[in-house]
Amino acid sequence: MKLEFPKNFLWGAATSAHQVEGGNHNDWSEWEKATGNEESGRACDHYNRFREDFDIAKQLGQNTHRFSIEWSRIEPEEGRFDEKEIAHYQEAINVLRERGIEPFVTLWHWTLPIWVAKQGGWENKKTIDDFARYCDKIVRSLSADEAGLKSVAYWITLNEPEIYTMNSYLRGKWPPASPTSQGGPQKKSFFKFLKVYRNLANAHKKAYTVIHSTWVSDTQVGIAKNNSYFEGWLAPILNWGWNNWFLNRISQHQDFIGLNYYFHNRIKGFKLNQNNNKQVSDIGWEIYPEGIYHVLKDLKKYNKPIYITENGVADAKDIHREKFIKEHLRWVHKAISKGVDVRGYFYWSLLDNFEWDKGFWPRFGLVEMDYKTMERRVRPSAYEYAKIVKENGFEI
Ligand code: FCB
Repeated sequence: MKLEFPKNFLWGAATSAHQVEGGNHNDWSEWEKATGNEESGRACDHYNRFREDFDIAKQLGQNTHRFSIEWSRIEPEEGRFDEKEIAHYQEAINVLRERGIEPFVTLWHWTLPIWVAKQGGWENKKTIDDFARYCDKIVRSLSADEAGLKSVAYWITLNEPEIYTMNSYLRGKWPPASPTSQGGPQKKSFFKFLKVYRNLANAHKKAYTVIHSTWVSDTQVGIAKNNSYFEGWLAPILNWGWNNWFLNRISQHQDFIGLNYYFHNRIKGFKLNQNNNKQVSDIGWEIYPEGIYHVLKDLKKYNKPIYITENGVADAKDIHREKFIKEHLRWVHKAISKGVDVRGYFYWSLLDNFEWDKGFWPRFGLVEMDYKTMERRVRPSAYEYAKIVKENGFEI
């Protein structure tokens, strides 16, 4: 039996600027130095090799691609916009369009310009206005090409506000935590966590309004939200707090929902993450495809188109990836058959890349990176994914 996906379904892969570009100078690169974390350095040198990478995406039949714009490049100092960097991203978009690949552009994927970090990052309400100004500049610059043709139709304002806020402020393990620059490990603070989370919701709303107030009328704006499938007696509360709170808060300000699905969380007694872990990835994350179905069913209530903006596995040997993709897609298909409006799927990631505090060793890519030679090698599972894309489905 063949599982067919809806007509015009978008198929692609995702990356983010700090993880692939190389040569970034932002709060993360400072934090990497200050904490002795592995440094992102030249990463995949995607900043210079994006043409080659988009050729690979094209060769794999992909018709969409998600990437992010690095705010610290665009506005290295407060109020000073770097037109050369804007032109760089325009070029990346043109190269995608020439290859028939629809760009999904993320405006903030966790990194901040140094001057924003110095003013307190997302703890400071001023950052909301600064972010909106940066979004305005970008959208005005990139929304149409010279011929007046649509250039970017899909904007993702924020990537995973909940993961960022949790790791940075509840767990104190991501920037702004920095033993040297802050005179000691960051204080974990529930109060700051709530404040930053609220500020991010407001930042999204403001950016949403700004983007829609430009002359491009058919632009679609959303966020990428990391939702987990919770099981157990606490599930309803966690579902509300973790999965729904942010989306409820911005419900009048989103044209689509981006879902990043990685986690299942079984609660027993007062303990979280009591999963069976029958299968885990290289970094110990449980592989639990069925969860994506439940998460999608929960999102149905928002009545918005849904794009799976991330889903992927760290698997250096490429032994799980093909099955991982197919199993998740099988559950996505089931959700579609139950009336959930899913319109696209982005595998995380096109390339192996810099996995934040973990450094380079986790290998999420459809394409393997040789970081010494910068050679790209397409993994066998990528060709299997390409078959699915070509067929707009697969046999089960
Ligand atoms: C997500 C992030 C992405 C990548 C994957 C593995 O939470 O959005 O940048 O690190 O996890």
